[in-house]
Amino acid sequence: MSAVQGEERVVTTLRLTEMKRRGEKIAMLTVYDYTMARIMDAAGIDVALVGDSAANVVAGHRTTLPITLDQMIYHAASVRRGVKRALVVVDLPFGTYQGNSKQALASAIRIMKEAEVDAVKLEGGAEVLESVERILSAGIPVMGHLGLTPQSIHKYGTYAVRAREQDEAEKLLSDAHLLEDAGCFGIVLEKIPAALGERVASELHIPMIGIGGGKLDGQVLVAHDMLGANHEFSPRFLRRYADMHKVMTDAFTNYIADVKSGDFPNDREQY
Ligand code: KIV
Repeated sequence: MSAVQGEERVVTTLRLTEMKRRGEKIAMLTVYDYTMARIMDAAGIDVALVGDSAANVVAGHRTTLPITLDQMIYHAASVRRGVKRALVVVDLPFGTYQGNSKQALASAIRIMKEAEVDAVKLEGGAEVLESVERILSAGIPVMGHLGLTPQSIHKYGTYAVRAREQDEAEKLLSDAHLLEDAGCFGIVLEKIPAALGERVASELHIPMIGIGGGKLDGQVLVAHDMLGANHEFSPRFLRRYADMHKVMTDAFTNYIADVKSGDFPNDREQY
């Protein structure tokens, strides 16, 4: 269960498990800043993920690897200030937990102390189990992430669907059980065959949250992608709910034209 308690009923890790038991779907989105966090939280999102995808959509890096712990903490603290109800989960960035479990715990503690969030997420199964257990032993809730794990992009060399082959599918299933047995409160399953995702979700008691993982206990998308801020990224799992690229382009173009023509500011828009 998460530590954050307020006047209104907040989303806790325990509540997510209850939602799975009741068959109530969990809605999760990434978010990196205060303003979007406020809007998303008021709209009723269950889980706000401060994803290391900030490296891509905020900072413009090709992969998630360059983002630092300090940068993640900055984003996480900004989101925390905007969220009253949702569970706030923060990605441990590449290089801050793979070294050893002490390093992993130190990184997780910094995130929890400096950003005052509810939980951390990290990528991998058996390879990071010791780190997961150590973080959990300090009372910090942990979410797993299996399937396509973007921090390992240089190992796989592609963002293609994972675990199509039986040996990789069996390892994923076994990793999911290890993470549940260790005490993780949920797992993100990214870009795997739907049948495999559904099998994992049916075998485990904790919620499986999919991003291209099939009809699971919940879904997650990168906010910038579902808002249509980037027309070039179109994976099959992405559903666009807005065309922010057009909305923003129109607004910027109109503003520039109004300034250039002298139309802005008008008499009512000045002192
Ligand atoms: O960082 C991120 O955006 C994520 C999602 C893809 C789940 O981990």
